[in-house]
Amino acid sequence: MNVAIIGTGYVGLVMGACLAEMGNQVLCVDLDSAKIRLLNENGIPIFEPGLEQVIRRNRDAGRLKFTTDVGAGVDHGVIQVIAVGTPAGDAGLADLQHVLAAVRAIGQHLDMYRVVVDKSTVPVGTADKVRAAVAEELARRGVKHEFSVVSNPEFLKEGAAVENFMRPDRIIVGSDDERATRLLRKFYAPFQRNRERLMLMSVRSADLTKYAANAMLATRIWFMNELANLAERLGTDLTGRCFALWGLAFKPNTDDMREAPSRTLVADLLAAGASVQAYDPGRGSTQRDRCDDTGPSKTYRRTARSRDARNSLGFRRTHCRHGA
Ligand SMILES: NC(=O)c1ccc[n+]([C@@H]2O[C@H](COP(=O)([O-])OP(=O)(O)OC[C@H]3O[C@@H](n4cnc5c(N)ncnc54)[C@H](O)[C@@H]3O)[C@@H](O)[C@H]2O)c1
Repeated sequence: MNVAIIGTGYVGLVMGACLAEMGNQVLCVDLDSAKIRLLNENGIPIFEPGLEQVIRRNRDAGRLKFTTDVGAGVDHGVIQVIAVGTPAGDAGLADLQHVLAAVRAIGQHLDMYRVVVDKSTVPVGTADKVRAAVAEELARRGVKHEFSVVSNPEFLKEGAAVENFMRPDRIIVGSDDERATRLLRKFYAPFQRNRERLMLMSVRSADLTKYAANAMLATRIWFMNELANLAERLGTDLTGRCFALWGLAFKPNTDDMREAPSRTLVADLLAAGASVQAYDPGRGSTQRDRCDDTGPSKTYRRTARSRDARNSLGFRRTHCRHGA
């Protein structure tokens, strides 16, 4: 399928690269000429594990291209993905200026049927504004063309964005017309070979689903903070507890501990008077790492244990102790 992605940031670039990996012809558009120049000169503006290789492979194969020309993007593909930023404006409301500018540009160039797929996070009702903006631009030009507006919110997790996109937990598609629904089903078919991931609903429901997921995340963080505040006020002490830490290296399948967040976590727990038992699958059974960054009197030691312990737990056992 021919796809144009308008907005080549974290979401747009990852999506464009992954769609090209699945054999689509993808044209990524951005107003930021420095970013597009960098991408056209084989550079990459962000770091995401695996992204550079996917971009290089598909750019070399001619399936992934970059431009600042919105008109070329609109000509290029039946699917027009909007992946521009929607920063929180005054009073915390999403600022839709980039979304509306992008869809107006589509209306200024559209000369055959197109599906506008909104990936940006937008409040319920935005699709009506998008439809109105495109229709207004078509009317200004004195032309009539059909188009659909679909909501397809993004759940990307930075740090695992390529993996998330290639193997999504869920794909939310909000569509109110059959023609666009058929196209979106075909578009996402390669990403759900093992199991149906696509959840089809109305446009408004899709936008609300994204806000509900974000609100749930915020609620969980708020809840943990409230519990911590309560514990402090009630004088509840954690001191002397032993914490289990699952996984030590900065990501799976490596023994690289240099930037691992576990180091900070272990140091903080030790400083708070806790002890830590940590498990990591690691590699081999003889490896021993020491790092002294937790302070001169606190040595963190990672020690391989017996094969039996590894087998029974599925992990290699390690101990970290204050002053050990
Ligand atoms: N980054 C994430 O982890 C994440 C996760 C889920 C949802 N989202 C949502 O996805 C959307 C995009 O987020 P992002 O992190 O990729 O943003 P970003 O700021 O990294 O990228 C947005 C890009 O859009 C470009 N742009 C702005 N206006 C344009 C226009 N009119 N035409 C062409 N390009 C234009 C900008 O130059 C920029 O490169 C936002 O709504 C965000 O809330 C982001």
